[in-house]
Amino acid sequence: MTAVPPTVAAVFGAAGPALADRARTVDALITTLVDTIPGPTGSRAAGVVAAGGKRLRPLLALLLAGDGDAPADHVEGSLLVSAAAVELVHVATLVHDDVLDRAPLRRGVQTVWATDGPAAATGAGDALLAAAFQAVAADCPADVARILATAASSLAAGELMQRADAYRLDITTERYEERVIGKTAALFEAACRIGAVHGDVGEDLAGGIGRDLGVAFQMLDDLLDIEGDPAVTGKARGTDLLDGTVTLPLAIAARREPSIAAVDLPSLDIPAAAALCDQIVASGACEEVRGMAYARIDAAQSAISGLPGAPSRREALALAARGLVDRTS
Ligand code: IPE
Ligand code: IPE
Ligand code: MG
Ligand code: MG
Repeated sequence: MTAVPPTVAAVFGAAGPALADRARTVDALITTLVDTIPGPTGSRAAGVVAAGGKRLRPLLALLLAGDGDAPADHVEGSLLVSAAAVELVHVATLVHDDVLDRAPLRRGVQTVWATDGPAAATGAGDALLAAAFQAVAADCPADVARILATAASSLAAGELMQRADAYRLDITTERYEERVIGKTAALFEAACRIGAVHGDVGEDLAGGIGRDLGVAFQMLDDLLDIEGDPAVTGKARGTDLLDGTVTLPLAIAARREPSIAAVDLPSLDIPAAAALCDQIVASGACEEVRGMAYARIDAAQSAISGLPGAPSRREALALAARGLVDRTS
């Protein structure tokens, strides 16, 4: 695994050694599965996996599955493969997303779209999706395929909904949340549901936790696009503004400030996007969005505190949720 982020290290510390062992095995499996993709497409996919990433979705799957106390071999095998498959679906959506968003930088390196163009990037994303579902079909019960396929179609629908809204400064908070549930929270939800089907938590309860965390995660990601340091996020600042994606901080800022509502988004260049980021911060919109994200995390925390099983699992999940609040990348 690439360097473990401090938050993830704290989660490992709280959950006990079984979780860190499982996470290492999942990481090795991710590499093994990506290595089955042949040719230049395989090299491109492997490059994105090797560039790092926080591996949050597999972590959630493992945490929801329980404390790692000697489950039957086939349950353990299915859990590890499905956790790896969740990450592959995530990486596939990142590679596809960078085509839609024309994003130059991902995980601190140039995107496949930037180095090899849209066709190569679309192919690499498709191959990653296929590798994920192939692994699930071979080693996991049908529930895992159901959960992952539901998420994959929500991801595509959410991304396309966002494209359809491009440059619209008048999007409502409800419409934004619908997009975010589709493009991001659906996979967090799937990760938690997959954990639940391998353990002792109800699937819907786990799914609700994942959905709240996922919405909060995307809201905070949208804030990082405006306020983040590219050296830490590994992504260029203002990418959303430059590709016409109107996120909630911008929509709220436009409601507050007529000068922001009047901005001609299609004509923004990099310096103008940086200036608009500063105006959005000055409008106070970021604080409003941060409050909404924290409310979602609070809702997840209260569901986490009611989970059955070992206190160490509740503590580790609470730390993971807390890590979303504090994240800088
Ligand atoms: C990025 O997800 C895409 C969003 C949903 C905002 P992550 O921030 O989890 O990306 P990696 O896996 O750590 O690169
Ligand atoms: C999340 O949206 C994209 C996916 C769900 C793949 P973003 O477009 O904000 O994600 P980043 O900022 O490119 O990682
Ligand atoms: Mg993007
Ligand atoms: Mg983003």
